[in-house]
Amino acid sequence: MLTEFHYLAPDLECTRRLGQRLGALLFPGAVIGLEGPLGAGKTCFVRAVAVGLGIHDPRLVTSPTFILVQEYPARWPMHHVDVYRLRSPQEFIDLGAEEWLGGAGVCLIEWADRIRDVLPEDRLDVVIDVSGAQQRSFHAAAHGPRHGQLLADWARSMQP
Ligand SMILES: Nc1ncnc2c1ncn2[C@@H]1O[C@H](COP(=O)(O)OP(=O)(O)O)[C@@H](O)[C@H]1O
Ligand SMILES: [Mg+2]
Repeated sequence: MLTEFHYLAPDLECTRRLGQRLGALLFPGAVIGLEGPLGAGKTCFVRAVAVGLGIHDPRLVTSPTFILVQEYPARWPMHHVDVYRLRSPQEFIDLGAEEWLGGAGVCLIEWADRIRDVLPEDRLDVVIDVSGAQQRSFHAAAHGPRHGQLLADWARSMQP
């Protein structure tokens, strides 16, 4: 089972393709933790995942920095959370995290490294590094068999 996947996106278009391919493969209960500095492309990536999940207008997907969590109807309900402004991991639980994690929908969390302790172990972590003005370096790590399979399918879908 593949547990790690690295992808270099030379531009935004490649980030979009990467996210769409992942979105097309997500299953109910999938949890994706996103890490990377401000401007890395976490929200852009989530928009692309949304397209892969069947949300036709990704502009509908806005950054949840102030709203903290947004739910979008899609093939599976998509929960998009940004925990940047949370003061503690407990606040994430108090927001109703249990409902979005491991449930009928999928959950994408920006700044997941800040609340790692309260996330399910079974998840996919995606770290985005800024490696150039338009270039982003993606490092994905899967935990648990379902997300391991997801990672393997995602990596295969990106093969030329
Ligand atoms: N390859 C790329 N992938 C993602 N974003 C990129 C890329 N190249 C440039 N960008 C720009 O970087 C910014 C990423 O913003 P955003 O997705 O809001 O970041 P974050 O949510 O990580 O703070 C956008 O302005 C986007 O146009
Ligand atoms: Mg963001």
